[in-house]
Amino acid sequence: MSDLRTLAVVGAGNMGSGIAQKMATEGFRVLLVDLNQAAVDRGLANIAKTLDEGVARKIFKPEQAEGIKSRVVGTTDWAQLAAAELVVEAVFEDLGVKKDVFRRLGEHTRQDCVLGTNTSSFYVRDLLDVTKHPERVVGLHYFYHPAKNRLVEVIPTAVTSKAALAKAQAIQDAIAKTPITCKDAPGFVVNRYFVPWLNEAVRLLEEGKANIATVEAACKAAFGVGMGPFELMNVTGVPIALHAATTLGRELGAFYAPAALLAAQVEKKAHWDLGGDVVEAAFDVVVDRMAGVTFLVAGQIVDEGVGTIDDVDLGARVGLRWPYGPFELMNRHGVAASVAMAASVAKAWNLPLPKCLAGRSTPYTFALVTTTVEDRVATLTINRPDKLNALNEEVVGQLDAAFRAAAADPAVDGIVITGKGKAFIAGADIAYFVERIKTSRIPEIVTFTRNGHATLRAFETCAKPVIARLDGLSLGGGSELALACDYVVATKKASFGFPETSIGIYPGLGGTQRLSRRVGTALAKAMIYTGNVVGAEQAAKMGLVDAFVSHDDVAATIAALVKKGKPAARSVPSAPPTGFEAMAAPFATVRAKDLSAGTATAATPDVAKTYDRVKSKAPVALALAEELIEASATLSIDAGIEAELGNLTKIFSTADALTGLSAVLDRTRPTYVGR
Ligand code: COA
Repeated sequence: MSDLRTLAVVGAGNMGSGIAQKMATEGFRVLLVDLNQAAVDRGLANIAKTLDEGVARKIFKPEQAEGIKSRVVGTTDWAQLAAAELVVEAVFEDLGVKKDVFRRLGEHTRQDCVLGTNTSSFYVRDLLDVTKHPERVVGLHYFYHPAKNRLVEVIPTAVTSKAALAKAQAIQDAIAKTPITCKDAPGFVVNRYFVPWLNEAVRLLEEGKANIATVEAACKAAFGVGMGPFELMNVTGVPIALHAATTLGRELGAFYAPAALLAAQVEKKAHWDLGGDVVEAAFDVVVDRMAGVTFLVAGQIVDEGVGTIDDVDLGARVGLRWPYGPFELMNRHGVAASVAMAASVAKAWNLPLPKCLAGRSTPYTFALVTTTVEDRVATLTINRPDKLNALNEEVVGQLDAAFRAAAADPAVDGIVITGKGKAFIAGADIAYFVERIKTSRIPEIVTFTRNGHATLRAFETCAKPVIARLDGLSLGGGSELALACDYVVATKKASFGFPETSIGIYPGLGGTQRLSRRVGTALAKAMIYTGNVVGAEQAAKMGLVDAFVSHDDVAATIAALVKKGKPAARSVPSAPPTGFEAMAAPFATVRAKDLSAGTATAATPDVAKTYDRVKSKAPVALALAEELIEASATLSIDAGIEAELGNLTKIFSTADALTGLSAVLDRTRPTYVGR
């Protein structure tokens, strides 16, 4: 019997097989269930085809693809569902068929199994009357292609139990999805504004306001999207747009109902003809309407409690790959002008202007850090999963405020910092750095970093224990933040690394100071010069992680640490941690300039290989990292931080910093010039 956790998907069509593929990719055993073997085989073939394409495009290694395939078990035997922690129903959109599935799921699943439905056109609550376990039912709406698109809408009903919802959400995190929580309402969050966006494009055409080419060009410019609404309909299916608009219109009224021309196009069984001349003079009319519709619906979603402004925007960025969600677009266009666009559309349809829009002129703010308090422990969650919780001014500002509030709260004994989604924190926001370098605003980087230091020092000086909870990757600023916490609790999915010298800079958020205090200067140099990422288990052996635990033991471990309180000051080791002597030794005396020049003498061929890798790192970054790590031996932490801050302008002014940081965004390999 396999010791992997088991999930299941019922319905082996395109959606179902894609969901199963993603689950297996993330290490689960997956039962792919359908009514007959032919359907199961089609689903398995679908998965094999997608994976083979992935291998051809070098996204997967052949052995990885084989591993994924081997974890998907196709079956028509529903009794096997007894092994599953979660079953996702993904049969086609027919309420009768879905009800049949839910009736059967009740018979075959165990008591703690979550029953998910991937419906897009029905209410989740429509399925409750056929199951004996309505408290276990949750909507799980995935987006096409579900093995690639990270978004999932998680939809509890009025009777979904807290445990089932928490489990459904935790499993979405575990399969590397980005979940947003929505109310059980037509179109949930994303389709509620995306379908009207498509439909409005057709209305503009129908009314003769613009031709297709003009609508496409105007939308690409205004929304920053790669494909306009007509091209998207061609790619995803014009009938699907009609079906979705019909469903919304039935529930929500005429404004949502499909344009007559959309129905006519489906009748013609043809794609939209994208040809024609772009008429720039018509852009304003198009954008006012397209944006007005989007903003109006976004406001309705928030007013009706279907989703928060954060979820509306996250849904657009992750699910639709829009660079900005509706609320951020409003901030960028100017809120008053955006509200006027929405008001004009609302007036035309005799609809009220949503309260969250009416009279508004100040920018919307997003909850980039959320606080929950349970059992006297405050958990501060960085909520930027689509950017792997990278730290920018807003995130650090909100983290600081949330931390100080929790520190001052008499109902809180301990504070946990964690990240939403698959990462803890993937470092400082590289796009933020690049934008500031390119626009000659390096002083802003210095101020941002100084503020970050103040927050991290507040962790250290707080009377309450501060715990970093790592259940995903932590790089650069994320690892530096964890080092400033009193305790680090990590699961096997967690990792630690300092990639800065690979990307043209040095760890500037205390990494050159706190890492060497923890593991000694030689091992700190090894980690910072090579940028090697270590898993949580190894990090625990190094002393970077205080508790390496299974996912199920995290809460109890945190409770015990909070009870224990602030730890005694750690002593600085005089030698590398046991087991890491060989990793540290090559860096004990070697000089950074010799590594960059390729003149360092290696004691063994393995060390020569390591030195060779370090040779490709940014030379100025390496030299400054060396200076700062060595200074940590004699400086106080505050003086060390000032030394890090004192070199920031120099490092961010180098051509190599811009090259290295830009290379991450462009997904290219940098070549450094040493200045
Ligand atoms: N700053 C800004 N954006 C970041 C980021 C960072 N530090 N780390 C990740 N992101 C963004 C990515 O650009 C991507 O955005 P996009 O979807 O708009 O393109 C998104 O987060 C998801 O990351 P992606 O790279 O698609 O995930 P992955 O699993 O393929 O790779 C990493 C993960 C961490 C290996 C990769 O994102 C990376 O190398 N990030 C930079 C890490 C780093 O150097 N940190 C130190 C900064 S000082």
